Amino acid sequence: MKKLVGYIVLVLWCVSCVQQPATTPTNSIDAKVTALMEQMTWEEKIGQLHQVEGGQLTPQLYSEIAEGSVGSLLNCPKHLVNDVQRIAMQQSRLGIPLLIARDVIHGFKTIFPIPLGQAATFNPTLVEKGAEIAATEASSEGIRLTFAPMIDITRDPRWGRIAESLGEDPYLTSVLGVAMVKGFQGNDLTQSNKVAACAKHFAAYGFSEGGRDYNIADVSEHQLREVILPPFKAVADAGVASFMPSFNEINGVPASANAYLFKQILRGEWGWKGTVISDYFSIKQIKTQGFCETEAQTAALAIETGIDVDMMSYVYHQYLDSLLMDGSVSEKAINDAVRNVLTLKYKLGLFDNPYVDTLAQPVHYDVSHLAVAKQAAIEGAVLLKNEHNLLPLSASQLNSVAIIGPMADAPAEQIGTWCFDAEPSRSITPLMAITKELQDGPIIHYVPGLNYSRDVNTNQIERAVSAAKKSDVVLLFVGEEAILSGEAKCRARLDLPGAQAQLVAAVAATGKPVVMVVMAGRPLCIGNEIANANAVLYTFHGGTMAGPAISDLLFGKSIPSGKLPVTIPQAEGQIPIYYYQKETGRPPHHFTLIDDIPVGAKQTSLGFCTYWLDTGIEPLYPFGFGLSYTQFTYSDIQVSHQNFSATDTITVTCTITNTGKYNAYEVAQLYVHDPVASLTRPVKQLKGFQKVFIKAGEQEKVSFKLTNNDFAFWNAHNQFVAEPGTFTLYVAPSSDVAKGCSVSVVLE
Ligand code: GLC
Repeated sequence: MKKLVGYIVLVLWCVSCVQQPATTPTNSIDAKVTALMEQMTWEEKIGQLHQVEGGQLTPQLYSEIAEGSVGSLLNCPKHLVNDVQRIAMQQSRLGIPLLIARDVIHGFKTIFPIPLGQAATFNPTLVEKGAEIAATEASSEGIRLTFAPMIDITRDPRWGRIAESLGEDPYLTSVLGVAMVKGFQGNDLTQSNKVAACAKHFAAYGFSEGGRDYNIADVSEHQLREVILPPFKAVADAGVASFMPSFNEINGVPASANAYLFKQILRGEWGWKGTVISDYFSIKQIKTQGFCETEAQTAALAIETGIDVDMMSYVYHQYLDSLLMDGSVSEKAINDAVRNVLTLKYKLGLFDNPYVDTLAQPVHYDVSHLAVAKQAAIEGAVLLKNEHNLLPLSASQLNSVAIIGPMADAPAEQIGTWCFDAEPSRSITPLMAITKELQDGPIIHYVPGLNYSRDVNTNQIERAVSAAKKSDVVLLFVGEEAILSGEAKCRARLDLPGAQAQLVAAVAATGKPVVMVVMAGRPLCIGNEIANANAVLYTFHGGTMAGPAISDLLFGKSIPSGKLPVTIPQAEGQIPIYYYQKETGRPPHHFTLIDDIPVGAKQTSLGFCTYWLDTGIEPLYPFGFGLSYTQFTYSDIQVSHQNFSATDTITVTCTITNTGKYNAYEVAQLYVHDPVASLTRPVKQLKGFQKVFIKAGEQEKVSFKLTNNDFAFWNAHNQFVAEPGTFTLYVAPSSDVAKGCSVSVVLE
């Protein structure tokens, strides 16, 4: 018997040897991180969580790097990168490389349209290419992490950071946010021309009350799940390397201390593994926001929330060791954060090569980069109006052209906000491009009229008027200086700044044909100015190549295809106004506008429906709107399943006919409406778009595929479900779906 037992033990031992769980290969990142962490002191671990400005190699910074007390730098110039990396690699005890980070939001040297302008392209391939080029240029200067894409949903153009956003729609923002992540990160982060991306700002920053930056966001769980979180989930699923909390509080809890967002949702429900980097000072601000009493408590709250890196608050640096000693902070919280940071550094290949190749061929402003930037500016321009087909202009039929306005030759303004490394001297302005386009052609009369967008000195307007009077057509460039949009640049009035409205009125009064080009960082409430112009091109801030793009569009070398990624309000009082409104119990089927109300009207005489007396219900221009030089009609919508089940994929097709005389792109949009559900649903939601090229006189059939998820929503029990019932599908040229086709389908 004893022999049998001994035998069984022997057999089991052999089996256990053979079936030993495969130990993590020593070369795996996880194994490397584990091995490194086992050597690290707590001071060295906390050092990895400390991110500071790297603009100057001060003696303090030198010693902090050499002691291993700094893990990453933001804003470190190229000429310092190799110095600081050598200190980290050769002088610190464990030789851990630094992570160099910077805001590369819409280009590094070659500047693309602001993200809101890129969103107007409805072209994820182009947006991805732009991010790829930005990564190539930025990484050539040692930057290996960018704080982009910014995927905050916002419906509030008062908020300066709408410029950095991809607009009001969760679907469009999700698609383009993923495109940016792919462009920045590629398929292999160890490639030296790739950079880690950062999904920001998590979350609800675009819902800052009053459109006032840093203000509170008070949103329902439903709004969070339905509108705010989907783009973040999309980029998390796409493998974005890092996340950044927002400055605002969400329902009373500052984002940097918001365990619901970062532990329950991001790490828990979504299972996202990556590195969370705080916003600038955002951890220390937790105290200012009144969420704790001391700076040390801000560090404890943030690290336990899962904010891995402290950007510039210095509170991890100052307090984590004592918090660890007194038990206020767990070893696990610090170890998890350190693992996330070191894992990112290994993924970036920094341990093998943290240095910049100073002998490499320069890549900045490569002609191929400029070409893509120009294409993005072309496709990001939205044609809002074109009376009597004034555009495109024919140079051969013009004797003289007036170029007027403070944005016609403003190289620093056209590149927009958030481009620290741009060189305005490389901008090609509309004046420069049109002068080149019209050389040996019509005479150009250039009079800015105002020296800059906020200029209130009207003494040049008379000269502008006389230039208009002696010209066949007026090209009027208006908008906002770059400094009027971006972080902490919120505006309560969304008019044209300065005396631009007077300039537009004076030029329009000449009776000459006026083409108005708007170069701004947000939608502006400029209905009066648009009424004064015969054609209007809304280009946002178009970047380095804005000039050549605008010139090509005005003279017909390119055809406008841009669509609004955000609603343009008639007036600030309509805000928030967006296309996915709800029906309400009093839909605005008919109403009386303020000027039509009879004097002495009785209280109940106007009826009762949801609208504004002075503006009606409609915005100035709806989401998804954009004209072309040609015309398109939508017909023959078809569905593969009139009735479908939760496991079916529906194919929706629609025929689009180019009935005009120009070959052009059209962005066909697919919207879904669920008229009856356990929670009220928006009157329509974008669930697909196709940018299709159609030759004049020809047709193309667009096709969309819908699955159960496209009909699902977050119900009252916080479940994402599609409920049986009838749905209406629209395929249309904008969110004004009456101009497209529709069909009903039934989910059984
Ligand atoms: C800023 C912004 C954030 C940016 C960070 C670093 O305040 O909120 O978007 O990435 O600081 O510059």
